[in-house]
Amino acid sequence: ADALKLGVAGLGTVGASLMRILTERRESLATTCGRPIEVVAVTARSRGKDRGIALDGITWYDDAATLAREAEIDVFVELMGGAGDPAYSAVKTALGRGLHVVTANKALLAAHGMELAALAEEQGALLNYEAAVAGGIPVIKAIRESMTGNTISRVYGIMNGTCNYILTRMEKEGLTFDACLKEARRLGYAEADPTFDIEGNDTAHKLAILTSLAFGTAIAPDDIYLEGISNISIEDIQAAADLGYRIKLLGVAQRTESGIEQRVHPTMVPIASVIAQVDGVTNAVAIEADILGELLMVGPGAGGNATASAVLGDIADIAKSRPGAQRVPAFGRPTDALLPYRRAQ
Ligand code: NDP
Ligand code: HSE
Repeated sequence: ADALKLGVAGLGTVGASLMRILTERRESLATTCGRPIEVVAVTARSRGKDRGIALDGITWYDDAATLAREAEIDVFVELMGGAGDPAYSAVKTALGRGLHVVTANKALLAAHGMELAALAEEQGALLNYEAAVAGGIPVIKAIRESMTGNTISRVYGIMNGTCNYILTRMEKEGLTFDACLKEARRLGYAEADPTFDIEGNDTAHKLAILTSLAFGTAIAPDDIYLEGISNISIEDIQAAADLGYRIKLLGVAQRTESGIEQRVHPTMVPIASVIAQVDGVTNAVAIEADILGELLMVGPGAGGNATASAVLGDIADIAKSRPGAQRVPAFGRPTDALLPYRRAQ
């Protein structure tokens, strides 16, 4: 069978992990997917950087826009990050050519997901983004595919590995906030601008995506009440522990009588609860639904391999699908009312 040809834009924590896995598991993936998966084009910011990955025989493009416009590929894999350009224009260009797109970029989807999903549908292309929410946890597939037919009443959980890593190490090892953040960055968990992690924006981006899928609403990150963890001190964590609680940064979206409420803020959760026991970079997403009941998914929320695993799953789905065989809208269609919230001061 013909190889599925990929163009990969972004060779950092996630992109380099993906490249390694695709090389190391080339043969088993070809068997599982029924056809080889081949990276034929790549781009990143600096060409000379040693990434510990072999790029022989792969065409290097100096920018993502040119790769998206010119490379002979089936799938554009966007792993650069950022809500704006070059990611936004490159993804639009790729979809405009009818190429499938796989991305881990929740900032991009929170800002432009509805437009990109409409373009993908119009072009008969797939826009897959499992890695954008909760790293390696297959929460998008769970909601979009496995739970079809359920009416969901609530989605909540720990959706940012960096914040959970910081809160856990502050509590368990008495380390300072700054020391924990530095380590999270070193381990490749944090965003390029870690303000997005600690101020809750990254959780809000993910929640906005989940809300759209779970409730059939538009993606509306600006309607989320938002408060991060940058003001949480060791004293706050210890005071909560003395009362039998842990502080976790939660994202919550739920049906209310007046509409869908979305919020992100540090929350005191009882120490005996499952959510309180979720430590380090691990994420947890709970979904309450009428047919299924309550689903709780716990797993690696960030890091190169965990995220690349989800990206690879999205690529494999495309490799296995036949043109026109898969018709899943990338997001919900706006049918329900979202409650607007003002940003916390
Ligand atoms: P990194 O910062 O490690 O890597 C980003 C890559 O994109 C680098 O290779 C960089 O090039 C390249 N890049 C950045 N800007 C440009 C540009 N203007 N033009 C071309 N290439 C560019 O990020 P991550 O791998 O951590 O994250 C990638 C995406 O995955 C982001 O959207 C992130 O939010 C998402 N994500 C990350 C997770 C994680 O745990 N790290 C988990 C889930 C999602 P160069 O190497 O030359 O600097
Ligand atoms: N910075 C993000 C986190 C990466 O820490 O959860 C995974 O989306």
